Amino acid sequence: MSLSGKLNVGFIGLGHWGPNLVRVFSNHSDCSIRYVCDLEKSNFKRVEKLVTDECIKTTRTEVLFESSKLDAIVIATPASTHYPLVKKALQAGKHVFCEKPLTLGWQQDRELCELAEKSGLILMVGFTFLFNNAIRKIKEMIEENRMGQLYYLTATRTHMGLVREDTSAIWDLAPHDIAVMNYLLDAVPERVSAVASSPLGLDNPDVSFINLFYPDGILGQIHVSWVDSNKERILRVIGNKARVVFNDLDGLEPLKLFKKRIGVEATQEEINYGDFKSLLRDGDIISPNVQLQEPLRKIADSFVHVVRKDAENISDGVSACNVSSTIIAALRSIEKSGSPEKVEQ
Ligand SMILES: NC(=O)c1ccc[n+]([C@@H]2O[C@H](COP(=O)([O-])OP(=O)(O)OC[C@H]3O[C@@H](n4cnc5c(N)ncnc54)[C@H](O)[C@@H]3O)[C@@H](O)[C@H]2O)c1
Repeated sequence: MSLSGKLNVGFIGLGHWGPNLVRVFSNHSDCSIRYVCDLEKSNFKRVEKLVTDECIKTTRTEVLFESSKLDAIVIATPASTHYPLVKKALQAGKHVFCEKPLTLGWQQDRELCELAEKSGLILMVGFTFLFNNAIRKIKEMIEENRMGQLYYLTATRTHMGLVREDTSAIWDLAPHDIAVMNYLLDAVPERVSAVASSPLGLDNPDVSFINLFYPDGILGQIHVSWVDSNKERILRVIGNKARVVFNDLDGLEPLKLFKKRIGVEATQEEINYGDFKSLLRDGDIISPNVQLQEPLRKIADSFVHVVRKDAENISDGVSACNVSSTIIAALRSIEKSGSPEKVEQ
């Protein structure tokens, strides 16, 4: 691809999610979709209105790897297939956008990062929420010190399924929240403690509570579940000046800033039961204006710019390694009934 030319893209995986990626890339004026690939021929109809007649449909991934027409490959297959597919794509000299989680292993993530780096290729991972304007707004608030000193973050990601056979609710759901917390705090947890259960009787956990110990005493807690009939997508960030709540399912007011707080600056004399109420500092509840924009469109645009080297890759292989090393530590902790485990760096 020349710096001004179109990016020639191929897609592997046209299941539930892949067609969404085909849609946003097909709407991007700087992209041409040259190939779509899925093991199931019947899935081609999911994208037939999104691609041109010239776009080649194949069930063989090798066709994409061997093509001299392709600059980049987008991978949206089950997590357990990512490692070999990403590796082959990079070895074939293609830039790669791979859905989360990059692989199911920290060492494998590292190997792919090194391969991309050595080959001068872009590796970007689908941590969709890093491209959500509400998350960007929270980052801005933290950087402007509107939250004050951060105490902790909590995230809830529950629903009934979608149950995946090749992985667990932890690998499937928690990468989003770990990636977001790492991004907001610009840090990686030092230790993790987690518990999990498998009420569905699967081999892998479908429910988990994960505690993250970040530097400076900041805590994170993530609850993921495939068995909860209540769908929740909520992130809370609690600081000493304010609390912010992001509810991804609230289309009207997804973000709310509560400028209420506990008066930590209270004098010793204030701290007695009678005066307790005076420690509560009341304040406004603000619903910041968040420009509604589909995160996936921003991902496609960001990928094009990152390949052209005119944007930072905020969702790169290193961020994927940081997510997977955190999950590996959580899995070790689960085996030890929740004892804190170090996150390898
Ligand atoms: N970023 C997000 O918000 C988000 C949301 C949903 C899913 N995802 C991710 O997207 C990926 C796919 O999820 P899904 O729900 O679409 O899964 P899916 O099982 O519905 O679809 C996967 C598709 O890949 C195809 N496939 C499998 N192996 C293949 C191979 N070797 N070559 C060609 N095609 C192959 C299958 O036939 C299937 O059509 C997963 O990694 C998932 O975690 C991300």
